[in-house]
Amino acid sequence: MTKILIDSANIEKAKELMSYYDISGITTNPSILAKGAKNLSEKLKEIKEVFKEDLEIHIQTTEKSCEKIVLEAEKLKKYFGDNFFIKIPINKEGLKAAKECKSKNIKVTMTAIFTPLQVLAASKLGVDYVAPYVNRIDNIGGDSTKILEEMQKIVSNYDTKILAASFKNQNQIKDAVLVGAYALTISPELIEESIWHPYTDKSIAQFEEDWQKTFGDSKVVEYL
Ligand code: G3P
Repeated sequence: MTKILIDSANIEKAKELMSYYDISGITTNPSILAKGAKNLSEKLKEIKEVFKEDLEIHIQTTEKSCEKIVLEAEKLKKYFGDNFFIKIPINKEGLKAAKECKSKNIKVTMTAIFTPLQVLAASKLGVDYVAPYVNRIDNIGGDSTKILEEMQKIVSNYDTKILAASFKNQNQIKDAVLVGAYALTISPELIEESIWHPYTDKSIAQFEEDWQKTFGDSKVVEYL
């Protein structure tokens, strides 16, 4: 099973997608929230309303020091509830904060991950997820599929799971699924695109045409 989350703060689009695609939650980062947010309070309220119970909510910290990250995580967990994950970018303060958050029973997604050894450091602390940035790895000449395979081997020795992020095309998504990443967070546009193929549409049009020619506007149930 692969979990698919939405990497976006476009809640209208998310709701539309959720009507036909099995979505397991939402991830945002400061860039995503800054993009369309005239009223961030309203946006956060919408996220809370739409993504409840088993649907995961991953919100990234805007703080830098361990102490402030943990305080922020506590406030966010209080607001969103038990399905909340604090996203913490990996660095020294981030790792300290991740350890502290875990000890306070706050779920952690260690983010902005580029290397297998970053995955090792985060996994050893028992974080819930590591979020490798697939497209950003490819952009700097890395082989994201090979790197994901290596990361997958590392997390298999720990309780940590991979939440692959930063996708820009369908092949990156397919490869992450085949590598066995536990979860992927993807823009709504790319998820929408993933179910579409021009020859599917062509086949559907052909079925309609053939039916019309013989049976006109009648429907199959009329012949029962
Ligand atoms: O959620 C963080 C990650 O998805 C970043 O993606 O598209 O900005 O590389 P991107």
